[in-house]
Amino acid sequence: MHPRRPLDLVTLAAFCVLSCSPLVSVLGRPATFLQDFHVTWADSHIRQINGGATIQLILDQNSGCGFASKRQYMFGRVSMKIKLVPGDSAGTVTAFYMNSNTDNVRDELDFEFLGNRSGQPYTVQTNVYAHGKGDREQRVNLWFDPAADFHTYSILWNHHHVVFYVDEMPIRVYKNNEAKGVPYPTYQPMGIYSTLWEADDWATRGGLEKIDWSKAPFYAYYKDFDIEGCSVPEPASCASDPKNWWEGASYQQLSAVETQRYRWVRMNHMIYDYCADRSRYPMIPPECEAGI
Ligand SMILES: *[C@@H]1O[C@H](CO)[C@@H](O)[C@H](O)[C@H]1NC(C)=O
Repeated sequence: MHPRRPLDLVTLAAFCVLSCSPLVSVLGRPATFLQDFHVTWADSHIRQINGGATIQLILDQNSGCGFASKRQYMFGRVSMKIKLVPGDSAGTVTAFYMNSNTDNVRDELDFEFLGNRSGQPYTVQTNVYAHGKGDREQRVNLWFDPAADFHTYSILWNHHHVVFYVDEMPIRVYKNNEAKGVPYPTYQPMGIYSTLWEADDWATRGGLEKIDWSKAPFYAYYKDFDIEGCSVPEPASCASDPKNWWEGASYQQLSAVETQRYRWVRMNHMIYDYCADRSRYPMIPPECEAGI
């Protein structure tokens, strides 16, 4: 398999140098729910609307639900537009994550959206598991109402770093510090997962705020799936090809503008960082000291 690339003008132009034909469409296509994903939990609670362009996830007292990519990927960028549960969403968790599905040596990159009482801010929790170890939570309160509109949530994963984006704002960077002995996901492909579930024992104000089932069913919406990466199985050369766009010079570190945005998020919206939690980690975890 070849990596999927966006059918953008640069790609078109490059292609046209060789031969410009209508076959250009074989270069890539947007990911679609039907072709690229399947339901993993509670078929009855996932609906395709707008002809399958938008997916509705349902949580009620009977069940939550989930879906996952059919394939696994090695490096790349995955993004989705998500509209979260509106109103009183306390106790609900909507998740979007990548996972190697290898429990003992799990690699996982998590976005978890923790609901809240009406009018209280939604919290985005991110976590990074590398080679089986997680416990690297960070939390950011969103600066907009993520249930009013769709917003884009992306995970960039290359040989240099993992970056979690909310729209164009980097909210988390986990750098490849393997050279300093810090584990980094480099050798296992990961699938893409989404779930909507109840977690009122911990999600909202540490479990103090319970889910209000009288407001059920709860709905979250997903659309515009975009997967650009090396899908597995395929020649291993794809994942290590430095010519993949996501490995390019401008993706190896944050740009100056992104660095400013990242600083703004951390200064104004970060509410928890395991790196600064001395009661939990009397010794600062090595990746926190290794810098971004
Ligand atoms: C919910 O709102 C409270 C009060 O504003 C806030 O402290 C908390 O961080 C918010 N998020 C969660 C997940 O509890």
